Amino acid sequence: MTTNGVSIPAPLGLLAELTHRCPLGCPYCSNPLVLDKRDDELEVATWARVFKEASALGVLQVHLSGGEPAARRDLVEIVKSARDAGLYSNLITSAVGLTRQTLRTLADVGLDHVQISIQDSDEASADHIAGYKGAFARKRALAMEVVKLGLPLTINMVVHRANIARIPAMVELSLSLGASRVEIAHVQYYGWALQNRAALMPTREQVDKAVAEVEGLRETLRGRIVIDAVVPDYYARFPKPCVGGWGRRSLNVTPAGKVLPCHAAEVIPDLEFWNVREHSLGEIWRSSPAFMAFRGSDWMQEPCRSCALKDKDFGGCRCQAFLLVGNARAADPVCHLSPHHPVVQHLASVHRDQPYLYRHS
Ligand code: FES
Repeated sequence: MTTNGVSIPAPLGLLAELTHRCPLGCPYCSNPLVLDKRDDELEVATWARVFKEASALGVLQVHLSGGEPAARRDLVEIVKSARDAGLYSNLITSAVGLTRQTLRTLADVGLDHVQISIQDSDEASADHIAGYKGAFARKRALAMEVVKLGLPLTINMVVHRANIARIPAMVELSLSLGASRVEIAHVQYYGWALQNRAALMPTREQVDKAVAEVEGLRETLRGRIVIDAVVPDYYARFPKPCVGGWGRRSLNVTPAGKVLPCHAAEVIPDLEFWNVREHSLGEIWRSSPAFMAFRGSDWMQEPCRSCALKDKDFGGCRCQAFLLVGNARAADPVCHLSPHHPVVQHLASVHRDQPYLYRHS
């Protein structure tokens, strides 16, 4: 399919942010600084329609996220509607506020997969990072319940200066909980993480050691657990193909129904986002101004425009280009070919041991 001469593939994944409410206060939360209000959240019937439209568009998986999805009393109905639409459902939860009983009911109505975030392998540190005393113990308990119910479990570990030295222990913890996969995700500096960048940024030595450790763990634990890990942006030489390319693979629906090409897209000024309350998901995917803004390669500037990798990395991350360079059309400054790459190198060298600015609901 093409719109205005730009070819538009079918999306594969939908990130459904059911709510921005969350009991935790993680200083790297990917939610925006201004959170959607409870009264503005989409009702179940609208989510059910969105899931059907997503399935018709070609979406295979829905990631039910937040905030904390369990903050929604109607979570079971929402999961059921995803199942009824024929989507593979993945619940991304902090595990705080999700009871065993609700988890069992979710499994009964067809939930396919659970992903639990754990902040550290050290309990005191984990609770400190989450800004919630007792969070670690609840996460452990719920993770075991997930496995007991026979649901596949992924543990998501967000890595930064305070916990990067404990990657082997975090992988060990994931194994002991019965996870089939662990995601080692270095902090991405948008939203709340950008506010806490100097407090979260690991050192070059820490990153090099972590990369070597992950390679070793993958070897030793092959066949026992899948380890997904990505090199942190600010220490990379090439940019990541953010969200698999703008408007190519996925959509992100906010609690109030705005549809974004990526979770951080609202930081880019002058983009016009359409809302599922007024448009079908298909219309939005095919022709909303925000999705069309960075499709194809006509929008690119040099050095991306003539780069041999432009169809592989798509110029990197549009949000990062705007946040660091003030121009969403510029090459992601993570790329060593960007004239702004020294900005990233400088920021990676700024470390300040200061209290976190916690995200607040
Ligand atoms: Fe928006 Fe990368 S986070 S394009």
